[in-house]
Amino acid sequence: MAKYDPAVYARRFPLLVSKPDLVYLDNAAATQRLDTVLENVVKFYTQKNSNVHRGFYEIAVQATEAYEGTRETVARYLNARYREEIIFGAGATWAINFVAYSWSRAFLRPGDEIITTVMEHHSNFLPWQREAKERGATFKVCGITEEGELDLEDLARKITARTKLITLSHASNVLGTVNPIEKVIAMAKSVGAHVLVDGAKYVECGPVDVQKMGCDFYVFSANKVFACMGVGVLYGRREILEQMPPYQLGGGMVEVVTEEDFSCRRIPEIFEAGTPNAVGIAGLHEALTFLQTFPWDDYAAYIDRISDYMQTAVAELPGVRLLGRPRKRVGLYSLACESVHAHDLAAALSAKNICVRAGNHCAQPLMRRLQIPATLRASFSIYNSMEQAEMFVDALRWAIKKLG
Ligand SMILES: Cc1ncc(COP(=O)(O)O)c(C=O)c1O
Repeated sequence: MAKYDPAVYARRFPLLVSKPDLVYLDNAAATQRLDTVLENVVKFYTQKNSNVHRGFYEIAVQATEAYEGTRETVARYLNARYREEIIFGAGATWAINFVAYSWSRAFLRPGDEIITTVMEHHSNFLPWQREAKERGATFKVCGITEEGELDLEDLARKITARTKLITLSHASNVLGTVNPIEKVIAMAKSVGAHVLVDGAKYVECGPVDVQKMGCDFYVFSANKVFACMGVGVLYGRREILEQMPPYQLGGGMVEVVTEEDFSCRRIPEIFEAGTPNAVGIAGLHEALTFLQTFPWDDYAAYIDRISDYMQTAVAELPGVRLLGRPRKRVGLYSLACESVHAHDLAAALSAKNICVRAGNHCAQPLMRRLQIPATLRASFSIYNSMEQAEMFVDALRWAIKKLG
């Protein structure tokens, strides 16, 4: 009998409590919100609502303390060396666009190379493709193996002395593959390249230690870790951030402004122009405090059981194929069905109160490589039960019979 009990965690999510029959399996798009995060949102707006870094009155000081306190919490959670290495913004997409814009201006020269992978979300693909094009750099896309793992031999072939950055997801939002980040970082370091890790999918699946990992950037969205939408975190190594120009100009990031020129503040403020989503950021403190004591090892063993079940059960469904057989995966399963379009399956499952995603999952290069238009994706989180996995498979069998 496994030690891990998802029901214990489901109780902490008010939406799941109020809708006990809902089978929510779209966690790769948005996780549900933790009770303490929601309480914190109300507390912020009812007790200390004011702008941060601006006022000298009591509630403004409290709002700023909540905001800066969360920076400390995130730094501790990721094991960053300095609190200044944590930058807040609007999401993983924002964070990657910021790094692509700002890092490229500081470090990318014509003839240099950026390497990404074919399994990336568009958010970690398009900003680099554009920067490479605009700066005369080469944009290379590393392939995957038959099993849906990163093709390390292809990566080794693509890395050269001109490689300046490798950017890849910690876990794929289509295949569920957990990438061998430490190996990739060792390969990048051998030519002095920087590495950005897109942790958007991974961060609710396991603990992250940026120093141990050795990455230069790590990004994730609060939305995918039980906190609020519209909040993103960028971890960046201080020595690198200090050489990057600001992304957005405006209030809060400048020191002196004259009619002719301006001087900037230091990190992190230089990268946080304008009014931030302080309430969402304060909520992240609650989510990460909750995860600080989460039993990750038990959860990983539990997800392995769900994966075993899904592999066996899906293989028995007529004309359905589970994409990817990676050795290390998160609880995310993408299915290709021969006889029914993924959108129709998702709509049919909705009639059974099962929430899954269908489409290309913002990964068109991967879909093209796999030669499929869309998949049906079930993504599990800490509150999903084995019984829900069974309900999903039963409903899928029913839908294929009905529509196929
Ligand atoms: C792997 C991956 N990267 C990046 C993103 C973009 O995250 P956001 O929409 O929160 O900016 C997503 C969103 O689904 C994702 O799954």
